[in-house]
This record gives sequence, C-alpha cells and structure tokens, in this order.
Amino acid sequence: MSSHENAPRSKVTLHMVASLDGFIARKDNSVSWLEDNGSVYEAGVSISEEEVAAFIKAIDCYVLGSRTYEHALQLGWPYGDTPTVVVTGRKLISTKKGVEFHSGDLKTLLEEKLTPRYRNIWLVGGAMLSQRFLELGLVDEIKLTVAPVLLGDGLRLFGGSPAEQRWNLKNVVAYKNGFVELSYSASTV
Ligand SMILES: NC(=O)c1ccc[n+]([C@@H]2O[C@H](COP(=O)([O-])OP(=O)(O)OC[C@H]3O[C@@H](n4cnc5c(N)ncnc54)[C@H](OP(=O)(O)O)[C@@H]3O)[C@@H](O)[C@H]2O)c1
Repeated sequence: MSSHENAPRSKVTLHMVASLDGFIARKDNSVSWLEDNGSVYEAGVSISEEEVAAFIKAIDCYVLGSRTYEHALQLGWPYGDTPTVVVTGRKLISTKKGVEFHSGDLKTLLEEKLTPRYRNIWLVGGAMLSQRFLELGLVDEIKLTVAPVLLGDGLRLFGGSPAEQRWNLKNVVAYKNGFVELSYSASTV
C-alpha cells in the first residue's frame, strides 16, 4: 500500500449562511442582514477572534461560483491568500493571489485538481454552484448557519432544489448573537 493510500481522504464542506426564510442574498446584494442585530441569546456560545482565525487557517482551499467571486471582490475579499478555485465558463483575470479558474466538469475538478492537493475543501457558494455539487453527490458535509432575520425575498438557498436527499444532523451550535450553525453529514458515520 502506498503512503497516498494511507492519507486521510479529502472532505468537501458546503458552508452557507441563510435567513430564516431560506435566502442567501438580497436582490440588491447588500449584506447588512449578516451583521448582528443586537439580540442576545443567553445560552449561546461566543467564539474569540483567535478561535475564528485558527478555524479559518485549517481550511486548505475555497471553491466558489463566479458570481460569488465577483461579489467577494466588491466586499473586500474574505479569503486571504488561501488557495481559491473559481468555477466559471468565462475567461476571467485573477487579481488575487492564490486564485485560479476552472471551467467544465465539477467531478474532474474535484478528482484531478482538488483532492490530490487539499484535504479540507470549503465550497462557499453561491446557490447555483452549490446545487450542482449537491446534485452530483460531491458534498460530504453541509454547514448551514441560520441568521435571525426574515428577508422576504432574494436568492434562494440551493436555488431550484435537487432531488430529495437525506442528510444526518451531526452538530448544532447556537451563538450568543442568535445565529445557529447546523452541521449535517452525507453518511451516517
Ligand atoms: N449567504 C451566503 O452564505 C452566500 C454564500 C455565497 C454566495 N452568496 C451570494 O450568492 C450570490 C451568488 O450566487 P449565485 O447562485 O447567483 O451564483 P454562483 O453560484 O456564485 O455563481 C454562478 C456562476 O458559476 C459558474 N458556474 C456554476 N456552475 C458551473 C458549472 N457546473 N460549470 C461552469 N461554471 C459554473 C457560472 O459562471 P459563468 O457565468 O462565469 O460561466 C455561473 O454563472 C451573491 O449574491 C453572493 O453574495 C451568499
């Protein structure tokens, strides 16, 4: 058996933040709804900036759709120098260190480009790309953060839903600011 066969398998985590009524973006793309609204859930936990930084440091690679990429550039680029793959059929120019573009088959992207290089792979949206990954069965874990707000309108989480899929709840974390993080795995183990 080669050392590669002993290596832990790569994992794809889909992470998104949704409103209580299931939207991930406002129509005008404004993001104020993601900020704290001042509510305090006493039984919730809070995490320090150091814990957040350690968590982010453990992410080996981000994958995002081109619309999420363009919005992230406008917002000030939250992904630092962490390797980032943007899925697009267009010829886009990279203005950020660590960004590369992929067009074409997503299974090939995962098997040939990402899995050999990265273990902790984070798919961070948007709705269209996440839906494609889910349809193809390429997601191992869903981390859904629910924000304490109703938006009424906007871009639907996962867009037009894929066929029914059963997921297994693995963890729930309620934060002091009223946000709740739900973690689901595709497998029962
Ligand atoms: N709340 C959250 O957690 C969260 C997370 C992420 C994003 N968002 C928001 O969601 C919005 C963007 O989401 P979205 O659903 O409109 O777009 P998206 O998924 O970010 O990007 C869609 C684009 O990705 C490319 N693409 C997708 N699947 C592809 C495939 N199989 N092969 C090749 N290219 C593919 C296409 O790009 P080309 O047209 O370039 O070919 C497509 O137009 C933004 O407002 C963003 O801020 C919110």
